[in-house]
Amino acid sequence: MSLLTSFRSSSDEGAVAVRSFSGGSGTNDEFRLVKWHFLAHSNTAPVGGKHPRVILITSANEGEGKSYVSHHLAANFALDPNVQLTLVDADFDNPALGSSSWMGGSSSGPGLLDYLEDHTTDHSRILMSTGLPNVKVILSGSRRDNAPELLASGRVEHLMSALAANENAFVIIDAGPVLSGGAAVLARSAGQIGFVLAANRTRRSDINQSLATLDRIAGPIDENSVGLIFN
Ligand SMILES: Nc1ncnc2c1ncn2[C@@H]1O[C@H](COP(=O)(O)OP(=O)(O)OP(=O)(O)O)[C@@H](O)[C@H]1O
Ligand SMILES: [Mg+2]
Repeated sequence: MSLLTSFRSSSDEGAVAVRSFSGGSGTNDEFRLVKWHFLAHSNTAPVGGKHPRVILITSANEGEGKSYVSHHLAANFALDPNVQLTLVDADFDNPALGSSSWMGGSSSGPGLLDYLEDHTTDHSRILMSTGLPNVKVILSGSRRDNAPELLASGRVEHLMSALAANENAFVIIDAGPVLSGGAAVLARSAGQIGFVLAANRTRRSDINQSLATLDRIAGPIDENSVGLIFN
């Protein structure tokens, strides 16, 4: 029985983890295992607009570790010099990338929402360099009330296909929560989903509701497309 199936049918928390980060000593080793999980499922052709090298990180609610996981996972992908990685901030309510160490602590500028709204903008305008030669980032962009509608546009799929076109190119999207953000609609463009569970905090009912929402809006989801990350 798969991890996802076993989670859905059991109440045993221990059965849900791809890897538990808590209590471990070697963060790099722990994130390497998570990276390998995604790499193992990245060699298939895109299906229905979902690119297998586009990895969406989300969770049920706010503050469960989505940005922590996204940024550490990105750093682990970057250890491989052959990988070209784009880290995308798609959490418009709580953007984390502009103030992160990836951007030297403070940065602003055009980002994802600006690109989605202005059809004349080329994606090269929103790609920003980092201190690492193989990592680029895309900020969330100027806040807009119609962010969920923009995320639902076919332009997202177009952007993700372009970013993941090369066989060594991966995209990690730090998305908002499923239950109160646009993550589910964004998942339509992601071949893989890392669903973060906050240890001893995320309620099982919220997890079930999130997985059902992902299934309904971006599904069908299964153990090949969703990895549960126990944070
Ligand atoms: N495994 C961890 N070890 C240490 N600190 C962590 C860990 N996971 C998360 N944190 C810390 O907990 C806080 C919340 O995590 P984070 O910002 O990643 O959550 P989030 O799901 O992205 O939140 P939001 O929904 O607000 O975007 C941050 O200060 C983060 O550094
Ligand atoms: Mg966040």
